[in-house]
Amino acid sequence: ITRALSSSTVRNAAIKHVTVIGGGLMGSGIAQVAAATGHSVVLVDTSEDILKKSTKGIEGSLKRVVKKKFADKPEAGEEFVQKVLKNISTSTDAASVVQGTDLVVEAIAENLKVKQSLFSTLDKVAPEHTIFASNTSSLPIADIAVSTARLDRFGGIHFFNPVPMMKLVEVIQAPGTSQETFNALLDFSKALGKHPVSCKDTPGFIVNRLLVPYLIEAVRLHERGHGSKEDIDVAMKLGAGYPMGPFELLDYVGLDTSKFIVDGWYQMEPENPLFSPSPLLNKLVSEGKLGKKTGEGFYKYK
Ligand code: NAI
Repeated sequence: ITRALSSSTVRNAAIKHVTVIGGGLMGSGIAQVAAATGHSVVLVDTSEDILKKSTKGIEGSLKRVVKKKFADKPEAGEEFVQKVLKNISTSTDAASVVQGTDLVVEAIAENLKVKQSLFSTLDKVAPEHTIFASNTSSLPIADIAVSTARLDRFGGIHFFNPVPMMKLVEVIQAPGTSQETFNALLDFSKALGKHPVSCKDTPGFIVNRLLVPYLIEAVRLHERGHGSKEDIDVAMKLGAGYPMGPFELLDYVGLDTSKFIVDGWYQMEPENPLFSPSPLLNKLVSEGKLGKKTGEGFYKYK
């Protein structure tokens, strides 16, 4: 009984106030979902202009959600949108807003130095109990956490694009992450209405560790002349039941992003054949054909 009591008293109170750093694709989605589930959210980015775009994006996305959810009650829908937006405030100065926060979720550029510098600054000003978490896809959580003196209150929380739609969250326990912090991140993910899975701090965690080598192998299969892009895509959709083929998915994710991830892993484990570079992928990236966002990748888009 004493053990149960003491562990419940040291347990972190539920996360209520969240600071999301980075108002891009992922950060906006995370802020939206946290606000929609009743958390108070501060969204931080480098300029007011970007934050205005982020807020607009969130409003648009909420309206789309509401159109379906409140199809027969448009007024209740509008009320919901306004209530959620009220839960979100914005700032261009992370250090000045982390005072009252229970959790910092970082979703800025995928660059180790930049992430370290941000967390090192915040570590000095954030309250003792504040948990830090990164949404990184490809960097080791431990490498980011070393920039702080709160290794026990540092973990990974990896969302999927588009955040409001995708149910999965990978919660990453780095070697230094305490069980309490890890549990708090699992609970927070559930409070967002997501389904968390537990991951260790290894390259790609679970989803990308399986998905990225598969995508690159599809490119290699095509490079070897063993199948057309179109046939490989159709094969995986109709034969494996995947909603998108590998080339469609690569174009959607962005070829630069995919290349960046494999290159990073290749540097970490050059002897692993699953991580070896693909000449075709590298060629397309060097030509600026990055996928859907640039109008051309493996396929052309209008
Ligand atoms: P993005 O480029 O859309 O957004 C990043 C935002 O961070 C930008 O608005 C930028 O102005 C802002 N930013 C950069 N440095 C900052 C700083 N020091 N302080 C405040 N704001 C800063 O990038 P995206 O796609 O949202 O990715 C963000 C993170 O999420 C990356 O670590 C990425 O690996 C990870 N991620 C991305 C996924 C994806 O599908 N795009 C999926 C899961 C994770």
